[in-house]
Parts: sequence; structure tokens; C-alpha cells
Amino acid sequence: MPMDPDHAILFEPVGIGPHTLRNRFYQVPHCSGFGTEKPWTQAAHRGVKAEGGWAAVCTEYAPLAPDSDEAPLIAARFWDRDDMRALRLMTDRVHEHGSLAGLELHHSGNHAPNRVTRWPALAPSQTASDLEPDIVAKEMELRDIRRVQDDWVDAAVRGRDCGFDIVYVYGGHSYLPMQFLSPSTTSEPTPTAALWRTAPGSGWRRSSA
Ligand SMILES: Cc1cc2nc3c(=O)[nH]c(=O)nc-3n(C[C@H](O)[C@H](O)[C@H](O)COP(=O)(O)O)c2cc1C
Repeated sequence: MPMDPDHAILFEPVGIGPHTLRNRFYQVPHCSGFGTEKPWTQAAHRGVKAEGGWAAVCTEYAPLAPDSDEAPLIAARFWDRDDMRALRLMTDRVHEHGSLAGLELHHSGNHAPNRVTRWPALAPSQTASDLEPDIVAKEMELRDIRRVQDDWVDAAVRGRDCGFDIVYVYGGHSYLPMQFLSPSTTSEPTPTAALWRTAPGSGWRRSSA
């Protein structure tokens, strides 16, 4: 059956930074349940997509440092060289089929369960997660902010060294980058906190009191 000429553009290459996508079919980041826990299955899953024709194939969200520990959920954890070894299987399989590999670097901020590391969750202010019950983040000090900035840079460099062609900053869904941009998690009071004000020396009380 001849191709509808309107669809021809889908099969044309397109540049992305210094790379070229061989067509316009792009597998956006999505969870697989494999993460870094099942590296061979992850590699086979993403590899078969590349084999099937997707010009770019991405991981799921990839927590970049131990204060963004998603356990017990499964993510493409990307903390260290062991994780690089695990995800290298994926980038090799994707490249074998001429596709680009994408890594979605991620930091949960005040949503991080941290059930394995037991580290405190971090956020621009001491806020409770509106996604995960029972998590209240430590307010980041300047040195925490600097360290997490360095963690992002280190992870991006490791991503490149692991063979990824595309490295994301996961900026949506109220995760850490968004928490720095949102009045509800920066120095402005949250909608709930707006109902409550600290009167000097008298603790918390309703603002209308
Ligand atoms: C099971 C599942 C897991 C997903 N995991 C992620 C994820 O880890 N990161 C992300 O940015 N989006 C994730 N998404 C959203 C998808 O990437 C995608 O945006 C969504 O399925 C809508 O598809 P569309 O953008 O092609 O319309 C997930 C979606 C589903 C259904």
C-alpha cells in the first residue's frame, strides 16, 4: 500500500543538538517497571523499540542522587558507576539499531521516599509532600543547594559517558526543579500555611485570630 504523502515527513531525519534522529518517532520517557533493578530486561525492552523503528528511546525517570531515592518504586536510578554499568546495556542495544538513547535525570525533592538510603528528603522549604503521605522535607541550606547542583552536573556527565545522546532535566510534575519555581514550596506561604501565621513569640495561630 503506498504511503499517504502527508505521512512522509514522519520518516524524514531531524537534527537534535549535535545528533540526528533518523525519523520523527520519539519514545518519550515512561516507566517500565525494570529501571536499574533489571538491567537486561530494561535493555531488551528499549532495544526492541529501537529495532522497531523509534528514532529515540528514553529511560523512565532517573533519580540522580541518594537523596532522591524512589524505593520501593522502580526507577532508572543513576547514582553511581554500578548504575552506569547497568544502563550501558540499554544504550548499547539502542545504538545497535541506529537510534538515540535518552536519560531522564530526576530529583524528587520533597516527594522522595528515601526508604533505602533513609536520607531526609530535601526541598526549598520545610514542606510536606502533596504526593507521598508522611514525607516532610528538610529545608535546603545553601550548601545543600550547591551539592544538589553539583549532583545534577555529575549525573549529566555520567549520562554522556554512559552513552546517552539526550539528557533531560525532569522539570515537571512538581518535582525539585519545579519546587524551586513554585510559590507553594519557596519562601512564600503555601495556600494552607497562608491561613496560619507565626505571631512573634506566640507560635502558630490562625491569621484571622
Ligand atoms: C505507566 C506510565 C509511566 C510513566 N512514566 C513517566 C516517567 O517516568 N517520566 C515522564 O516524564 N513521563 C512518564 N509518563 C508519561 C508519559 O511519558 C507520556 O507523557 C504519557 O504517557 C502521555 O503520552 P503522550 O505524551 O505521547 O501523549 C508515564 C506514563 C505512563 C502511562
